[in-house]
Amino acid sequence: MPGSGHSLRAAALLAFVVLSILVSLLISSVQQFGARLAHFNDTTPAGGGGGGGGDEEAASLRSALIYQLNERRNEVILLLPADDDGTGQPGGTPRSAGLDPGSDFNLWNEITEGSRRSHMDEMGCDSLVDMRAVEVLGSGYTKLVVKVNLAQGQSVALKLVNEQGIDMGKCVEDFKDPQRCRELVSYKLKKEIVLLQRLQHPNVIKLRGHCAGSGTEGGRVAVILEQGTPLQMIQLLQSPWEDRFRVCLDLVRLLHFLSRSPLGSVALLDFQPRQFVTVSGALKLTDLDDASAAETGCAADADCTLRFPHRNFSLACSARGACTGLNEKMNIYNAYRYFFTYLLPHQAPPGLAHLVDRIMNSTGELKTDINQTLEAFEHILHLYKSGLHLDNLPPSVTRDYAVMRGMATSGDVEYRCWPSYSQQGCVLSVHGAREAAFICNSHSQCNSFTLSGHKTWAGRVLASFRSGFSHLVPDGKSEVYVKRAKAGGASAV
Ligand SMILES: Nc1ncnc2c1ncn2[C@@H]1O[C@H](COP(=O)(O)OP(=O)(O)OP(=O)(O)O)[C@@H](O)[C@H]1O
Ligand SMILES: *[C@@H]1O[C@H](CO)[C@@H](O)[C@H](O)[C@H]1NC(C)=O
Ligand SMILES: *[C@@H]1O[C@H](CO)[C@@H](O)[C@H](O)[C@H]1NC(C)=O
Ligand SMILES: *[C@@H]1O[C@H](CO)[C@@H](O)[C@H](O)[C@H]1NC(C)=O
Ligand SMILES: *[C@@H]1O[C@H](CO)[C@@H](O)[C@H](O)[C@H]1NC(C)=O
Repeated sequence: MPGSGHSLRAAALLAFVVLSILVSLLISSVQQFGARLAHFNDTTPAGGGGGGGGDEEAASLRSALIYQLNERRNEVILLLPADDDGTGQPGGTPRSAGLDPGSDFNLWNEITEGSRRSHMDEMGCDSLVDMRAVEVLGSGYTKLVVKVNLAQGQSVALKLVNEQGIDMGKCVEDFKDPQRCRELVSYKLKKEIVLLQRLQHPNVIKLRGHCAGSGTEGGRVAVILEQGTPLQMIQLLQSPWEDRFRVCLDLVRLLHFLSRSPLGSVALLDFQPRQFVTVSGALKLTDLDDASAAETGCAADADCTLRFPHRNFSLACSARGACTGLNEKMNIYNAYRYFFTYLLPHQAPPGLAHLVDRIMNSTGELKTDINQTLEAFEHILHLYKSGLHLDNLPPSVTRDYAVMRGMATSGDVEYRCWPSYSQQGCVLSVHGAREAAFICNSHSQCNSFTLSGHKTWAGRVLASFRSGFSHLVPDGKSEVYVKRAKAGGASAV
């Protein structure tokens, strides 16, 4: 078994060397469309020690780099769960500084030397043999993310060191040692592996496994993740309020979890939409290398100021010398400034607008903690799902319509509305016939609507609104409503 494990790992490593080359070709061809042509400024040869009097300088550079490698390694080791006699469940107590001999070094060894299969049913190097790179999903300062199809037919996202990223570039420029630099940068991937294992939550991307090289291949690490879709803020701004609310709600659920995580209260230091993806509409955090569970120490309240570009907040210094709730508050305000201000107020349902305004104010002023914020969001979700926010709509509006159950329409005369779930016509989510009738009455072109059997994530019904149609067709799952008052033009009822 160990023998076959080694050859599998070798095959997988070879596969992702090939993959890296493919991907760098892909990227450079993409860059050529941009203003700047990608230039391949060959870095110093890996083994090159420089010439003449540079030996001393090279030695001091090397020791500086090795020092940094050790620092990064220790940073990751601090995040390992306390050893728990192999039960596989972390103890739940936040770790404090200092190298704990009780750390779960099995986990560490498996991360640094290959793949971990013991505790969970995770993928390892062998899953990557014969994989095929499909497209680049994204890249950043540190990492490159590629969609790959595995031999078994699944597609996953693979995170690798971004050879052309700023992190690698800076390191190679400073130290002229691509191999050790790759190893240095790969600690960010290793940190992410540990954090993904310890911070499992529906709104954190799922770790499917990993594959790592050892020895001189120590810099070759691939993190295998469930595949998502990068969060497109522009696209989200144009989508229905329901979908934008979902992103904000998911974010709050995530922050609630992070405030009392197995690592303590975790702050996301780099809080940007590009750190998130969506998987079937659910928001998931994917970039964890900037997560920190560190507390900010203080001697007085004055040491606990939370600074943002347009706003400062003063926090209290606790008796044991830590800024109270700093990580949680930092997350809430960042959620407010990067997400809520853009996604939440715009086109909120009238019956919920006052509750949305209240959330905007309490998060923008840091007046509520994450528990209260989550409660406020879940309350809105409850009202929205149950239709209680529509209580002031007159029940009589549906009397203006004749209903035909078990029917759908064909030969539709469509019109467009915004923000519609369909490009061609006007498709909106409703709680039921009453809300749909109210909407139809407010659209001058609307003469009939159909309630379909399709539901949104919040359980609301998709309704299509139209000017007319040519005939009815049987459809057990839907209902057609036709306006009575106006003789509906094209409608052949
Ligand atoms: N599982 C995934 N599915 C789809 N796309 C992903 C996935 N994970 C990451 N991405 C995309 O890849 C990009 C880069 O990943 P990541 O943010 O981890 O790299 P990074 O180098 O740390 O980036 P940054 O410079 O923003 O910190 C992300 O912005 C995201 O769009
Ligand atoms: C290559 O890099 C060096 C130093 O980093 C720079 O001075 C030079 O202009 C680069 N060459 C090209 C072709 O960009
Ligand atoms: C926040 O505090 C800093 C430093 O004390 C100060 O320079 C800045 O003007 C303050 N910003 C705001 C918006 O109050
Ligand atoms: C919150 O409400 C108060 C009082 O109406 C107002 O002065 C303040 O600007 C609001 N803050 C935010 C962030 O909306
Ligand atoms: C927040 O909720 C959690 C349970 O979800 C609870 O353990 C914790 O004490 C609450 N915190 C505050 C400040 O109320």
